[in-house]
Amino acid sequence: MIISARNLNFAFGEGDLRKQILFNVSFDVAPGEVVLLTGPSGSGKTTLLTLIGGLRRTTEGEMTVLSRPMHHARKEDLVANRRDIGFIFQQHNLLEFLSAQKNVELMFQLHPEVPAGEARARAAEMLTKVGLGNRLDYHPSRLSGGQKQRVAIARALVTRPQLILADEPTAALDSHSGRDVVELLQSRARDRGCPILNGGWETRGESRHGGTGGTVIRLHAVRV
Ligand SMILES: Nc1ncnc2c1ncn2[C@@H]1O[C@H](COP(=O)(O)OP(=O)(O)O)[C@@H](O)[C@H]1O
Ligand SMILES: [Mg+2]
Repeated sequence: MIISARNLNFAFGEGDLRKQILFNVSFDVAPGEVVLLTGPSGSGKTTLLTLIGGLRRTTEGEMTVLSRPMHHARKEDLVANRRDIGFIFQQHNLLEFLSAQKNVELMFQLHPEVPAGEARARAAEMLTKVGLGNRLDYHPSRLSGGQKQRVAIARALVTRPQLILADEPTAALDSHSGRDVVELLQSRARDRGCPILNGGWETRGESRHGGTGGTVIRLHAVRV
């Protein structure tokens, strides 16, 4: 299993301010799977993705990600997972002062074993694959919303991650660019057997999940 989660509970705040967000969440993700993480706004999709990515600590329940325990995680395991996971956020989070090429190349900072020349070449190659071969030197301010999100995808894929976490990657896009983004990610999952766990492609009435009946993790609205 790429991810195995058992009885995850998660709360923000303490004492009177404590608000539980995740209640006994359990699921498995196998190699090659595209998993849809769904639930209303505020149900904890982003929170769960940050737990999987090790950006937040799993406090209750057990979760193994890429064979590394995330409950009582050691720092080395968190760092190793961050290297092996590609993140795509709702907002592209590109650095405005860097070109598309440099934004993607930057990911190799976590991979000192890759020589600089190879990092440059792979960044350009990945940007070409997402259709931006003629925009390598463009800064984000000169790219459209869809193009920026494609740079973000290239950035998430360039280091050949074993798992991709996408947090509503199409939320800020029109439906045409959104579909492109989804197809790109799905073909990635097919090519490399790399699972994608995604928060919300099911938007705007059409199923963007491929309609193949893949795994769906459903989170429920948090009662206040
Ligand atoms: N850092 C935080 N501190 C306190 N509450 C938070 C924090 N981040 C998110 N929340 C709350 O947790 C709930 C779930 O948020 P989130 O995981 O972003 O949901 P979703 O991504 O499904 O919209 C929301 O009620 C949100 O306000
Ligand atoms: Mg969210």
